[in-house]
Amino acid sequence: MRHRICLRIVSTVLTTKMRSHTYIDSLGSARIMARALDGKALAKEIKDELKIKINNWINTGHRAPSLRCIIVGSDPASHTYVKNKIQAAIDIGIEAQTIKYDENLTEEALISAIELLNHDKLVDGILVQLPLPNGIDERRVCNAVAPEKDVDGFHITNVGQLSLDMPTIVPATALAVIEMLKRFKIETLGRNAVVVGRSKNVGLPIAMMLHSDRNHDSGLGMDATVTICHRYTPAEQLAVHCRNADIIVTATGVPKLIKADMIKPGATVIDVGITRITDEQGKTKLVGDVDYDEVRKVAGAVTPVPGGVGPMTVAMLMHNTFQASQKIWQQ
Ligand code: GUN
Repeated sequence: MRHRICLRIVSTVLTTKMRSHTYIDSLGSARIMARALDGKALAKEIKDELKIKINNWINTGHRAPSLRCIIVGSDPASHTYVKNKIQAAIDIGIEAQTIKYDENLTEEALISAIELLNHDKLVDGILVQLPLPNGIDERRVCNAVAPEKDVDGFHITNVGQLSLDMPTIVPATALAVIEMLKRFKIETLGRNAVVVGRSKNVGLPIAMMLHSDRNHDSGLGMDATVTICHRYTPAEQLAVHCRNADIIVTATGVPKLIKADMIKPGATVIDVGITRITDEQGKTKLVGDVDYDEVRKVAGAVTPVPGGVGPMTVAMLMHNTFQASQKIWQQ
């Protein structure tokens, strides 16, 4: 019970504005568009709350929480992601540093570097940005991070604890989805949810929390009836499952996979996909898995891309880092 109280993300009254608009349909009638679930505004709200909590933590005699982000190689998108995480951490009072290695780093050298951080009493959270260069075993690297410092929630111990509904550190993207459902007050108990995508770091933990019992110790269960679809789900079956869903969470990286005719009227659609495409004018832009403009005419609520789950993922990583710094596991 003590863990439960400590770990539950306290849901505060949502002050974030939920936008909805009208549009004129092909028969000339005014219709209401789905709410856009503004992840950017919600992430700011959560980071503001964390900033206050961290300030209180420091004012009661603790040192500032600390985070180390390891990045190997020169992938520009990964460098941007890490820069954003470090900046978000610094903004809310977390002491954060990037540790950069070139792509020739060996797996053994990377693991030695992680072990040094595992033993460093001044480091609370460790994150190794993925993907890693070819030839480095990501699973071995994720398991090298001490579970209590694993702010990504990728260590087998943390994955195992999540699967048993135990308190643990939960992957930030999955936690972002659950937190959005809670704070935007989307009912999940007894509802049909479809998760599209079965990756171990995103789809699987989302499905795990959506289906599990809210009365169990993690405090993260959502009591939905969950269907997991993936690349071998035939397109017509994907549509059937989606049309039956009150909640769709999609995390595939396939632009416009989820179309308006696959949506039950009023359903909630959470888009975790993020793909960089080049449009007809030759400009690059980020798009999700959802045909957003059309889906908004049918759904009840939809997350935009960008500005939906992405910023929330960073906010939940900050939550995980503060949680790790409180050493709840070792009490
Ligand atoms: N690469 C893409 N998303 C993530 C993430 O959530 N954590 C880490 N470590 N790497 C990523």
